[in-house]
Amino acid sequence: MAGFPRAACISLSLLCVLFFSFSEARDHLVGGKTDAWKIPSSESDSLNQWAEKSRFLIGDSLVWKYDSSIDSVLQVTKRDYVTCNTSSPIEAYKDGNTNVKLDRSGPFYFISGSEGHCEKGQKLIVVVMSEKHRRFIAISPAPSPVEFEGPAIAPASGATTLKGSLGVTLGVIVGVVLM
Ligand SMILES: *[C@@H]1O[C@H](CO)[C@@H](O)[C@H](O)[C@H]1NC(C)=O
Repeated sequence: MAGFPRAACISLSLLCVLFFSFSEARDHLVGGKTDAWKIPSSESDSLNQWAEKSRFLIGDSLVWKYDSSIDSVLQVTKRDYVTCNTSSPIEAYKDGNTNVKLDRSGPFYFISGSEGHCEKGQKLIVVVMSEKHRRFIAISPAPSPVEFEGPAIAPASGATTLKGSLGVTLGVIVGVVLM
């Protein structure tokens, strides 16, 4: 019996972590560090290696920090990405502190605007997950029976206290509706 509130607490905090990590729009610093927008020193250091390890959702933003006197960020078509064609970008960013909102699912292509940099690997594909995928992730941790069976024991932590007061609030609302 004594282990029960703890289990409830753990499952609650896990839910909170999942909720915040999947529902809040996030800023992704490209490459994970400030000076990452440059010609990669090796294949394993490439920005696409970084992108493959990240999870991008609609509403998130990409953030680039770079020296605007020597570099820029071009958003391009897939074709221009492959051929490193900088002549007609969809969008060109040159302010050194570029923020691009990922407003749809699917791939986004970026290359460096500096001469010869894209050819040497300074390019990035970011694939944003679809809304369907996102909902699937958000719902999957929900079936947790522990969370809904309010234990009639003295609250042992902040989390259970919160749940208790939520129950009281709901009870009050139900009471008001019934009156
Ligand atoms: C780059 O793109 C422009 C516009 O689409 C095109 O006119 C040009 O031929 C392309 N250059 C190369 C080298 O493919």
